[in-house]
Amino acid sequence: MTLIAPSILSADFSRLGEEIASAEKAGADWIHVDVMDGHFVPNLTFGPPVIAAVRAATTLPFDVHLMIQQPELSLADYVAAGASRITVHAEACTHLHRTIHWIKERGLPAGVAINPATPVSVLEPIIHDLDLVLVMTVNPGFGGQSFIPYSLVKLRQVKTMLEERGLDGVYVQVDGGVNPVTAPGIREAGANVLVAGNAVFGQSDRAAAIAALR
Ligand code: DX5
Ligand code: ZN
Repeated sequence: MTLIAPSILSADFSRLGEEIASAEKAGADWIHVDVMDGHFVPNLTFGPPVIAAVRAATTLPFDVHLMIQQPELSLADYVAAGASRITVHAEACTHLHRTIHWIKERGLPAGVAINPATPVSVLEPIIHDLDLVLVMTVNPGFGGQSFIPYSLVKLRQVKTMLEERGLDGVYVQVDGGVNPVTAPGIREAGANVLVAGNAVFGQSDRAAAIAALR
């Protein structure tokens, strides 16, 4: 079953709690929380205080995507703010194994994201420790970008890496440029969690928008 995780990056920030509640009502499975620090990516969004402020708006999992440098320095703040699962970027972690285990030791599922130009092979030493792999399908930093087609090759490589190791329970997530046109190819290539910003929060009928991605 394909899970849909609307990204609040594309939501109306002046009504973030209501927007999150709207996504839950529309059938979202997770809420994707795009944290950006203006250094790892050129954009700056929000951090623990905002996440904590909207935590009570839904009971859905907060799927926190840390697009920040040295995430290990602030992981505790995201746990305290109400993150349900945390994904860090391989490119942002000097000690990725240590960071993943820090997250798991606190009882949260841990994911690793790889940017479009990062090969899937970087996951190999850590793949057995992961609950989720995030294949970025745009260069991170902004919503509304176009899907990068080569991502489908990487998705298949991730799927093969997992299948060869019997790691069928690891989520394969994509993020960026997901919409009703790109979704079928993405699902066929092996993704089972689809992050969508504009394709959901940019639409007035969110239930129809989510259904169109499944
Ligand atoms: C990009 C973010 C994505 C983005 C997706 O850096 O990680 O989650 O919000 O937005 P769309 O679905 O509009 O491409
Ligand atoms: Zn994201």
